[in-house]
Amino acid sequence: MAQRIGIAGKGGVGKTTLAGTLARLLARRGKKVLAVDIDPSPSLASAVGIPEEERKNLVPLSRMLDLIEERTGVRPGSSYGQMFKLNPKVDDLVDRYGVVAKDGVRLIVLGTIDLGGGGCFCPENALLKRLLRHLVLDRDEVLIMDMEAGVEHLGRGTAESVDVLIIVVEPGTKSIETAARIRKLAEDVGIGKVVAVLNKSLGKDDFTRSKLADIGIELVGSIPHKPCIIEADMNDIPPIDSEDCSEIVSAIEEIGEKLGLPD
Ligand SMILES: Nc1ncnc2c1ncn2[C@@H]1O[C@H](COP(=O)(O)OP(=O)(O)OP(=O)(O)O)[C@@H](O)[C@H]1O
Ligand SMILES: [Mg+2]
Repeated sequence: MAQRIGIAGKGGVGKTTLAGTLARLLARRGKKVLAVDIDPSPSLASAVGIPEEERKNLVPLSRMLDLIEERTGVRPGSSYGQMFKLNPKVDDLVDRYGVVAKDGVRLIVLGTIDLGGGGCFCPENALLKRLLRHLVLDRDEVLIMDMEAGVEHLGRGTAESVDVLIIVVEPGTKSIETAARIRKLAEDVGIGKVVAVLNKSLGKDDFTRSKLADIGIELVGSIPHKPCIIEADMNDIPPIDSEDCSEIVSAIEEIGEKLGLPD
């Protein structure tokens, strides 16, 4: 049973749409779900139905300079020569900074983890990596991580405990090239299972399936391209709350079932 789920892929392919909808579907089945936004431009909050007034007040942990200083002993940007704690306390952060979204999904926004050249050796990375490790290893919720293209911040010792990494691709070849890179990174850090989902499908799934097969990634499902998502977005409604998007939601439900996500 997959409990720790990472979602990655090229920019704009639909990671957040999938992450938010999966989180809500699992919560509706009575699961305790923690949605984790690790994207530099966090948007998982709207996908899990947090209203705009509340979203405005959501600060990613990566920008909480006082907190980072309090926990690691060093203020971000102050002096990278200083020693900071590599094992900062993190086990209270979900309770303190997590927010409750629709269907009882809990959301925590981590924000950017600098990955340039393997990531900076800096207090903000130390705190966020430690927190990710805690989320993956120590907690009992179903974890849905919206991760952009990098997966290295999971790091060895944490990545092995991720049950599945879902790489989202879209029609065409560019996002498949990105998928190949992500798969390699995932292998390097030790994520055991990597699969792909085709989003914005125009019905020509065989092309994508065979391209993915060439690089050894199984396509586990596809989500149709539907303009309803854009309409829902204009009205600030998550797809799962829009009647017009029911095909998208059932496709995501099917993917969840295929992956053996908790029911
Ligand atoms: N199945 C779909 N049909 C039509 N449009 C879609 C579909 N899925 C997502 N979109 C649209 O594509 C855009 C990107 O979706 P989303 O934000 O989920 O992608 P992302 O991978 O999280 O992007 P980013 O890399 O910016 O975080 C949004 O405008 C969304 O409304
Ligand atoms: Mg996103």
